Amino acid sequence: MNASPKDPDFAGRRNAARDRLDGLFGAKGGDRADRSAWFHAVYETAGGDPAAVPWADLAAKPELLAWLADNPGGGADAPLRALDVGCGLGDNAEALAAAGYATTAFDLASAAIDWARQRFPQSTVDYCAADLFDPPAAWIGAFDLVHECYTLQALDGALRAAAFPATARLLAPGGRLLILTRSRAEGTEADGPPWPLMPSELTRFEELGLEKVEKTPYELRKGERVIPHIRAVFRRPD
Ligand SMILES: C[S@@+](CC[C@H](N)C(=O)[O-])C[C@H]1O[C@@H](n2cnc3c(N)ncnc32)[C@H](O)[C@@H]1O
Repeated sequence: MNASPKDPDFAGRRNAARDRLDGLFGAKGGDRADRSAWFHAVYETAGGDPAAVPWADLAAKPELLAWLADNPGGGADAPLRALDVGCGLGDNAEALAAAGYATTAFDLASAAIDWARQRFPQSTVDYCAADLFDPPAAWIGAFDLVHECYTLQALDGALRAAAFPATARLLAPGGRLLILTRSRAEGTEADGPPWPLMPSELTRFEELGLEKVEKTPYELRKGERVIPHIRAVFRRPD
């Protein structure tokens, strides 16, 4: 389906999809199997309409593009390896590849991976169906850049706790982890999903042996709403 967020009825279709998806099993949290079932259902019940995938912007995140402008990937002669975690429909992964990274992108939902491949048939990105909690052995310690946008915030409780080490272990020595996430004030509760991160939660990556490079707050606006975010970068020591 050719659809654009500029379509006059795109927002209406998205709202209807949100209402429908909120009623599905696993929508409001749960264990690994519950959340996995819900993510699969999002893509499988979308009928090819990206309006029915609540997070699909059909464009790379501007904050990722800004970071990549200053941190390109080296290109064909000296490629750096990037991994996009929970890649959805592939726009961020395509931006990583366009910035010169040899890019692998994965999502647990195979329907998302099929859809990304269809959207970008000429892509150099290696799109794979895989689970962050059970990745191919060859990915451990393999990537110069791991990019994660909005997946940590889509997990809570024990799943979120497990996602920190599962993400950090993918970095090669000297590799960097780039995170884009909603944030919330310290000590406040989140009525998710999503469950925005408290800034202190990100120190978990330092406990796991990574060095903090930056933790930059920024805000996005949705109509009248101002949504706090953080762009964080960590580095695995050489
Ligand atoms: C909120 S969406 C964000 C998608 C994309 N990163 C973006 O910025 O638009 C979270 C994505 O992570 C995927 N996901 C959730 N848990 C995962 C896991 N354990 N392993 C791989 N992908 C996962 C979901 O299927 C979904 O596509």
